[in-house]
Amino acid sequence: MYTKDIHRHLGQKLKDINITDGSLDTSFLMRYSANITTIHDLFYQIYGNHGDVEKWYDKLLSTINNAYDQRSIALKKLDIDKESGDIWYLSNDIVGMSLYVDRFCGTLKDLEQKLDYFQELGVIFLHLMPVMESPEGASDGGYAVSDFRSVASRFGTIDDLRSLEHTMKSKGMYLMLDIVLNHTSQEHVWAKKAAEGDKAYQDYFYMYDNRELPDAFERTMPDIFPDSSPGSFTYLEESKKWVMTVFNSYQWDLNYTNPAVFIEMLDTIFFYANLGVDVLRIDAPAFIWKSLGTTSQNLPEAHVLLQLIKHCVQVSAPGMALLGEAIVAPKEIMKYFGTGRFTGRECDVAYNATQMALQWDALATGDTRVMLSAQSEILKKPYGATWITYTRCHDDIGLGYDDSMIQSAGYNPYSHRTFIKDYYAGNYRGSVAKGALFGVNPKTNDARISGTLASLCGLEYGINHNLQQIIKESLNKIALMQAQSILLGGLPMLYYGDEIGYTNDYTYLNDPGKDYDNRWMHRPLIDWSKNEKRKTKETLEYMVFENTKKIINIRKSYKTFGDHNNIRWMSCHNIHVVGYVRYDKSQSYYCLFNYYGQNTFLTYYIFKEQGLTEGITLTDLWSGEKIVIGRDDEYLSIKPYQFFILTQIGY
Ligand code: GLC
Repeated sequence: MYTKDIHRHLGQKLKDINITDGSLDTSFLMRYSANITTIHDLFYQIYGNHGDVEKWYDKLLSTINNAYDQRSIALKKLDIDKESGDIWYLSNDIVGMSLYVDRFCGTLKDLEQKLDYFQELGVIFLHLMPVMESPEGASDGGYAVSDFRSVASRFGTIDDLRSLEHTMKSKGMYLMLDIVLNHTSQEHVWAKKAAEGDKAYQDYFYMYDNRELPDAFERTMPDIFPDSSPGSFTYLEESKKWVMTVFNSYQWDLNYTNPAVFIEMLDTIFFYANLGVDVLRIDAPAFIWKSLGTTSQNLPEAHVLLQLIKHCVQVSAPGMALLGEAIVAPKEIMKYFGTGRFTGRECDVAYNATQMALQWDALATGDTRVMLSAQSEILKKPYGATWITYTRCHDDIGLGYDDSMIQSAGYNPYSHRTFIKDYYAGNYRGSVAKGALFGVNPKTNDARISGTLASLCGLEYGINHNLQQIIKESLNKIALMQAQSILLGGLPMLYYGDEIGYTNDYTYLNDPGKDYDNRWMHRPLIDWSKNEKRKTKETLEYMVFENTKKIINIRKSYKTFGDHNNIRWMSCHNIHVVGYVRYDKSQSYYCLFNYYGQNTFLTYYIFKEQGLTEGITLTDLWSGEKIVIGRDDEYLSIKPYQFFILTQIGY
């Protein structure tokens, strides 16, 4: 979240005493004054014991200044605009989509021609999966970056990216790119120099001559890709050294104890800011600080580094918000918004991974109690920060919510998770979900889940077995999942292909750069003749697209659906049905979601608890139907996977 209130007060004070005229440069000076002591303290907290700390601190300040000097006037003006009104990214207008440019349509130039498609759907925010230089073969979908500043030729050029950004801005759209902060590709020039023996670059990584420290680290570091890339170190034949590779063996972890690394990466962050990025997705921030004897995840120093980045960015490029991609335990996710005196002053945005996974949990069990029990934790989000709300993304679904949340619903955590995994991986009789287990850890039995939204909801099964009832039900499940997530509060991020109902794509098995990673089953290659079918009534593509569009439209029609920490969960009167109220001073929306595959009932008392009385008519914005609140011994009847967005119209 911005400390824009500090900026506003200080700016006003400086104006009052005639020190600033409110121009772009004096606004910069004002932000500089407001943040510089914090920047100093945070930098010294990490690098204060470094022999050359003063030299590096000077370098840090010149990096901040250069970033501002190189920022275009247009972006500087936009910074001021974004700081002036409500916090821009909380708005109900914004709905995003995450996509691989090449798999979606080809190149950045092609994407520029597709912007109308997003607008047709109501999407005005794009997250482009990594487009910077990365090896053609195995590159973890571009997350092994070999040059942070040049676009890989298969996507086009940096000028194409600039042109796309420009056109998007002119249409009122927003752009999100990744900074892969934790590691580089083994093909990056720093890695190559390190491998050739350059000592200065060896210090950019964690490189060791023997197994002593790697063994010590690995004693407490969990495996991230236990099946395809076990361990956290890789042996380099050529240089006879071990290098830390927490993710894949070709992704070398950067060493942030070295201030040179921090400054280089901060400068890269500013490079993206000055390309006009609106939200920078900080990839895998939980991993950026390593320490012997720990898991080397979510360490306090990682948070200090993120706070430092945030404060530097808000001096030179305050219009760029930061998203911390921390897919970790619920309590840990919350810390990425900052804690203590930094509450609300770290990442502006984080993934609501807990809610996402719990929707999948509820869909499998038909029981929403685990989801409900997680909300007290999720609601701790500071005002001004927001969530990415989503049902699917390019990654797997992790079941990392707390055991206590499962226990509070009366389940045994181990057998509950085993059921969820079996249900989605096709190992449970009667399940129509078609997914697969990802990252199976033979030591702990942990695993995550791969599969597209449609396949996990049963559409693939229904089509393969030509079962109309299952197909129909899967469409209802897809709409239910999307509605709960899009209306929840936060920045909804659709995942490309889901708006059309793409099922799993198994062709990755024929590609040696991908066959070891089943997340590729849910990274479809878009077939535009299929997407065209969205225009033909009665096709599946039409139904999924229209449903998605309608939910987005509901969100966009009412400001209340923006994220102003204005959500209240309804109490549980039926374990299959979960509900929340989105409210503001004048209007409330009662959103109810049935995760059960059978008809069910809900006492009208649930509305009375919200202050509504018998006889009040509520309109369902989804179906257009009206319901009248009945007596406490009467029941609202609910169909399988039905949901309601109820409000009082014109009362
Ligand atoms: C993030 C990305 C994931 C990638 C990992 C390593 O979690 O979302 O796709 O594998 O970082 O870069």
